[in-house]
Amino acid sequence: MSRADLWAFPGKASRQVETTICELSDGDLDAVTAIVGSFSFAESRHKEIIANLADEFTELGINRVFFLARFDGQPVGMVQLILQHADNDPELADGRNVAHAHSLWLKKHLHRRGLASDLMRHVERQAAERGFTTLTLGVEVDNVAAVGLYKKLEYLEFKRKQGRVPSEQLLLLRKRISR
Ligand SMILES: CC(C)(COP(=O)(O)OP(=O)(O)OC[C@H]1O[C@@H](n2cnc3c(N)ncnc32)[C@H](O)[C@@H]1OP(=O)(O)O)[C@@H](O)C(=O)NCCC(=O)NCCS
Repeated sequence: MSRADLWAFPGKASRQVETTICELSDGDLDAVTAIVGSFSFAESRHKEIIANLADEFTELGINRVFFLARFDGQPVGMVQLILQHADNDPELADGRNVAHAHSLWLKKHLHRRGLASDLMRHVERQAAERGFTTLTLGVEVDNVAAVGLYKKLEYLEFKRKQGRVPSEQLLLLRKRISR
């Protein structure tokens, strides 16, 4: 791992625990499995998510940067930055101006403490430091928590497309970022 930022943890200051966000230099399937495993999905969906993440790790250092949040040493959250190729759509990532945030997860028992917001701000800073001026992301229209989060962080819809299954709609959002 490289690059660690100290992460404030609301309400826990007196315990002096340290939460950090690190950039992964290797794929860490155990960590992402621990995070996704805190959600009660059907086993098939769980396996699908982990298989996708394993595939995505093959692009580490080429097209993707992975950020992992640890709390008290344990993996609790993650998000990816896609630099160039996202769903074959240059409006989502173009390697120059536009980058894409993907696969944001926060362990379930730590929701609503502002940790996903911190991870998103971190990925925005990291994208801006790499010279990108716009960050995009996709979210299913019925993902109330994530839609609420991105609205609060001032992401704006610029188009829609079909989600994972034909009945799902994906909102594509973007935000101007600066150093
Ligand atoms: C979406 C997710 C990452 C949010 O994580 P989180 O750490 O709870 O988010 P935050 O605490 O930073 O929330 C910030 C804001 O988002 C909104 N929000 C978060 N959860 C919400 C919920 N369940 N319902 C409505 N709004 C919600 C609120 O505006 C919240 O601010 P508030 O707590 O002051 O009201 C988390 O629910 C998660 O891991 N979900 C499963 C994976 C997923 O759907 N990822 C997104 C893929 S696009």
